[in-house]
Amino acid sequence: MRTVKIGLIGAGGIAQVHLRAIKAVKGIEIVAVCDVMRERAEKAAAEYGIPHVFTDYKDLLAMDEIEAVNITTFNQAHRAPTVDALQAGKHVLVEKPMAATLEDATAMTAAAHKTDKILMVALKTRYSPHMITARRIAESGALGDIYYAESVACRRNGIPGGSFAKKETAGIGTVADIGVYSLDASLYVMGHPKPIAVSGIANNLLGTKYCEPVLGSWNWNPKELTVEDFGAGSVRFEDGRLMVFKTSWIMHMDSLGETLFLGTKAGMKLNPLTIFTNQWGTMNDIKPHIPVLEDIELFKSENLAFADAIREGKPSPIPADQMLLTNVIIQGLIDSAAANREVAVSVPEF
Ligand SMILES: NC(=O)c1ccc[n+]([C@@H]2O[C@H](COP(=O)([O-])OP(=O)(O)OC[C@H]3O[C@@H](n4cnc5c(N)ncnc54)[C@H](O)[C@@H]3O)[C@@H](O)[C@H]2O)c1
Repeated sequence: MRTVKIGLIGAGGIAQVHLRAIKAVKGIEIVAVCDVMRERAEKAAAEYGIPHVFTDYKDLLAMDEIEAVNITTFNQAHRAPTVDALQAGKHVLVEKPMAATLEDATAMTAAAHKTDKILMVALKTRYSPHMITARRIAESGALGDIYYAESVACRRNGIPGGSFAKKETAGIGTVADIGVYSLDASLYVMGHPKPIAVSGIANNLLGTKYCEPVLGSWNWNPKELTVEDFGAGSVRFEDGRLMVFKTSWIMHMDSLGETLFLGTKAGMKLNPLTIFTNQWGTMNDIKPHIPVLEDIELFKSENLAFADAIREGKPSPIPADQMLLTNVIIQGLIDSAAANREVAVSVPEF
């Protein structure tokens, strides 16, 4: 098996998990690391024996031996390195969400089409056995036609600090941070229907004004929160289906429910994965036995899938075109909240 040589751009928090995952698998070698904060890149290089250190990602992209890059910068620094890397002939694995704005995500997807290089978005949840099983169940036809869904990603008291809380680095809050996991899961199970309209609200009333950190709060400073900590709305799809989307980093509530699907033959909840059917003359709640994997295993799987696709000339395991749908919905929710009305949305074509 040929070793795929990659460069890592961004040596912050999540890069540490990619570094550990890549070290633990065969067939991928990190030959360069870049961070605008030199000490971060140097620390990663020293810890993982990476020979080249850069503070400008363009120097990393100039290395011929690098075939692909793993981009683990904060959201607002996803677009430039992704587009430049694709144009430099490198394949790209970029952390979720693909981007903070639809404009950035569109430019990134367009670059992937134009260069014919792999652009994969690191959505680790795609590699969880429970997600794989949910998709398999939907694909088997066991649910019949899904006509309604609820997509939920909520924390009661989990506003992150650091680069996540700021507009200039994250660009967007919970709607894309944890919201993208449930949106992607919902669209994956539903077979990626095209959204046509979104109506919703998004705000940070609790995180900036009505709440103070309490016991158990994360590393959050109300004065520094400049992105939304709550978002909710509904999404209409071209094929007539509807999805309600709810996401929060903070709320005065224990739960807003779970991601669920109503189908003509059965319903399904994602967590814990349960299928609701009427069969054998009874109502049945079926709970498949599914192992729970540690996060690091999901990171290993996504990096291996990326390297395999490169080696074997396969399409992107998690294509930008699929992730673009999440950006269309996220942007629609933010725009609808600002306009205080439903907005029409459309999926860019290439
Ligand atoms: N998959 C997951 O489980 C998961 C978990 C956390 C974060 N993330 C995603 O990973 C991304 C990064 O999150 P994080 O927590 O590691 O953030 P972070 O702020 O800890 O790290 C980002 C790093 O990127 C560097 N950087 C920024 N712009 C750069 C540039 N132009 N060139 C080189 N380096 C640059 C910063 O200096 C910083 O060290 C975000 O998009 C986030 O949504 C994913």
